[in-house]
Amino acid sequence: MSRETFETAAGHPSAVAITPMPRVSLQAFCESAELAALIHEAADDRRMEKAHVKVNMGGASAAVEAYRTSPTPNVIILENSADRAELMAQLDALAEYCDAGTKVIVVGRHNDISLYRELMGRGVSDYLVQPFGVLDFIGALSALYNHDVTAPLGRVIAVAGSKGGVGASCVAHNLAWSIARDLDLATVIVDVDLPFGTAGLDFNQDPPQGVAEAIFAPDRLDSNLVDRLLSKCSEKLSILAAPTTIERAYDMQETAFDQLIELLRASTPYIILDIPHVWTAWSRRLLTVADEALIVASPELASLRNTKSLLDNLRAARRNDPAPRIVLNGVGMPKRPEITTTDFAKAIEAEPAVALPFDARLFGAAANNGQMIAEVEDGAKIAAIFQDLARIATGRAVIKRARKNLFEPLLAVLKG
Ligand SMILES: Nc1ncnc2c1ncn2[C@@H]1O[C@H](COP(=O)(O)OP(=O)(O)O)[C@@H](O)[C@H]1O
Ligand SMILES: [Mg+2]
Repeated sequence: MSRETFETAAGHPSAVAITPMPRVSLQAFCESAELAALIHEAADDRRMEKAHVKVNMGGASAAVEAYRTSPTPNVIILENSADRAELMAQLDALAEYCDAGTKVIVVGRHNDISLYRELMGRGVSDYLVQPFGVLDFIGALSALYNHDVTAPLGRVIAVAGSKGGVGASCVAHNLAWSIARDLDLATVIVDVDLPFGTAGLDFNQDPPQGVAEAIFAPDRLDSNLVDRLLSKCSEKLSILAAPTTIERAYDMQETAFDQLIELLRASTPYIILDIPHVWTAWSRRLLTVADEALIVASPELASLRNTKSLLDNLRAARRNDPAPRIVLNGVGMPKRPEITTTDFAKAIEAEPAVALPFDARLFGAAANNGQMIAEVEDGAKIAAIFQDLARIATGRAVIKRARKNLFEPLLAVLKG
């Protein structure tokens, strides 16, 4: 491939660096069933949601036939295993019918720099060498329209609870606060719990306007309005607070938050969505389109069942994205019979990213003072776990500390 592949700290191709495709039409002419299947899979990816994709068989010669009589789309993809001279002849034939602005990508099996140069010389936009993955393919398409792939691009982390009251909002707010303070990255929290959200309370802010203005005035919504609606909590952290009035009912459309998120993505490195425990078209969509989905769970049965349902559903809806991360919260609550962290992990077939102990005093003080855990008690073990979570959720390596593993605070609690 002609581009670098981006690597995250975790070592897999970064979905982060790929900007979603604009509203373009794309037609492929494949020779192999493999490429056709890969393009179909790519077409289902969230980054391709706006693109219109059609897959044909028959390779470059079928393309020449097709475009003799019909207009060319924004992007043509040609798979070619024929010899070089034949490919060039087909490209020359195609050039006669190509509309201005149509971009051509050739897919082949020869990793050959002179072939690559000859193709570029004929105006081909990219040459992709098989085999490659779905994200590589989407990345190459996206690069056609976003030359500056290093430009800052917001990452969305959606946080939801497996049940109500499991601490999803606490985790969302402390995570955002830690990304802003410890990783020094500009972060915005969007309180999506319009009637009952607690971001304003937790950060001791009472802004007159916030997220409701942003989503209920779509024609006025632009980056200036978003900037005005943000309320600043610290140097790098702002919130879009919920109105928390119940005068009206909030029946939102599935795409109610799309425009807001698009604007924030263009301007802010990290966007944390504090999603209430509901399952609606819009809440499901927010968890699906986010770069990272984080499920906060308490260690008991109903929460376990719901975590499993959410994991299964979101894994299927986000096949090319990282699996949702699990945060076990409130571990070791006195007198509560609990599912152990090991059993919980076994049942959901996934290791929780972190486990946070139950601490009524600390969380209670934070809630009452409108402060974050680290502000109540900097150096608290729980504050360090939020730092770990901030590093994990942003793809950075976790700093090794003196304690042996992530679950040691929890073991300490269990031992009393
Ligand atoms: N680990 C914890 N230990 C003790 N109390 C907690 C813990 N995590 C959250 N809480 C408390 O639980 C309550 C519900 O938290 P919240 O974040 O609003 O839940 P959700 O958003 O899932 O409904 C809050 O009063 C919060 O202070
Ligand atoms: Mg909440």
